[in-house]
Formats: sequence, C-alpha cells, structure tokens
Amino acid sequence: MSCRFSFGNMSRIVRIRTYSPSDEQAVVALWRQIFGYPAPHNDPLTVIQHKMAVQPDLLFVAEVEGNVVGTVMGGYDGHRGWIYSLAVTAAHRHKGIGAALMRHAEAALTQRGCLKINLQILASNGDVTAFYKKLGYSVEERISMGKTTSQTCPPPP
Ligand SMILES: CC(C)(COP(=O)(O)OP(=O)(O)OC[C@H]1O[C@@H](n2cnc3c(N)ncnc32)[C@H](O)[C@@H]1OP(=O)(O)O)[C@@H](O)C(=O)NCCC(=O)NCCS
Repeated sequence: MSCRFSFGNMSRIVRIRTYSPSDEQAVVALWRQIFGYPAPHNDPLTVIQHKMAVQPDLLFVAEVEGNVVGTVMGGYDGHRGWIYSLAVTAAHRHKGIGAALMRHAEAALTQRGCLKINLQILASNGDVTAFYKKLGYSVEERISMGKTTSQTCPPPP
C-alpha cells in the first residue's frame, strides 16, 4: 500500500509493505531507539527471528525514499488479533503514518478472520491512548498478566 504524505511543503510517498530480511538492521535500530526494552525476550533480533518463524507476513514496515520509518506487528491466534511494536521515527510523526500502519495491520488481521483486535500499552506510555482512541480503540477494564516461559533467550547485546 502506498500513500502520499506532506512533509513541510514537500510531499513524499510512504509505502507500507511486509518486512523483508534486508530490513533487519533498520528495524533493530528503530526498535532499540524507540522501545529500548531491557528484557531479553524483547531483544529486537530475537523478536524478529521468532516472528519470521510464525506469521512472518504480519510484520510490516513503512518506508519513505527507501528508508524504514515505521513498523507494526500483528498476530492472530485464532481467537484474537494482537498489535505489537507500532513505532514511527520521531522525524516522521504526526503525518498519519502511525494510523496508516495500524489500518494496514488491521486489514491483514481481518482478512485472516480476526473478529477483535487487542493491544497493550505500558502504563508509563498512557498518553498514546489518545492515538488509539482516534482509530476506534477503547480502554477496556482488564488486568494484564504475563509470565516468561524460557530462560534461553539470548542476553541483550
Ligand atoms: C504512537 C505513534 C506510532 C504514532 O505515530 P504517528 O505517525 O505520529 O501517528 P499519526 O500521525 O497517525 O497520528 C497522530 C495523532 O495521534 C495522536 N497521537 C500520536 N501519538 C500520540 C501520543 N504519544 N500521545 C498522544 N497523542 C498521540 C495525536 O492526536 C496525533 O495527532 P496530531 O498529529 O494532530 O498531533 C508514534 O508516536 C510513536 O512511534 N510513538 C512511540 C512508540 C509508541 O508509543 N508506540 C505505541 C506503543 S503501544
């Protein structure tokens, strides 16, 4: 999918497409910069490797003039769809790229038969709910729990 966005007084084509192995370096750098999660299971290379083994076609990048400027990852487990790793580089924010990435991922999940999409937001990043609300998401009363199931994740670099 390609869309035209304004950057100041110029317009640029933003292409949203499936991740390819040649994007690895750019995506790792973007995630380290934007998320910087310390847990080994969130190490960007580990995340990409695991995603390439399961539903690799649900990892998307936004590209401007050949550079990766954003990502989103989807997952569908047969019951719910999930959105992860939505990120747009600071220089490209507020142009609608985040929303376009979300719509792209939503369409891919819906095509697979997904009836409802969930996502989680770190409590420290609560302001971003405003972004998701504009896209039709609402805050649901849930307590999110998690458990790490493997001690074999590689240590972070
Ligand atoms: C969230 C994010 C992907 C949005 O990308 P984007 O390309 O700027 O989003 P869009 O241009 O489509 O939408 C922008 C609108 O969403 C809202 N919005 C976006 N980010 C927001 C934030 N952090 N807080 C509050 N509102 C936000 C604003 O209303 C904004 O409108 P404006 O441009 O008129 O100010 C981007 O800010 C980002 O990468 N943030 C860091 C990573 C992150 O928090 N990811 C989500 C994890 S759950």
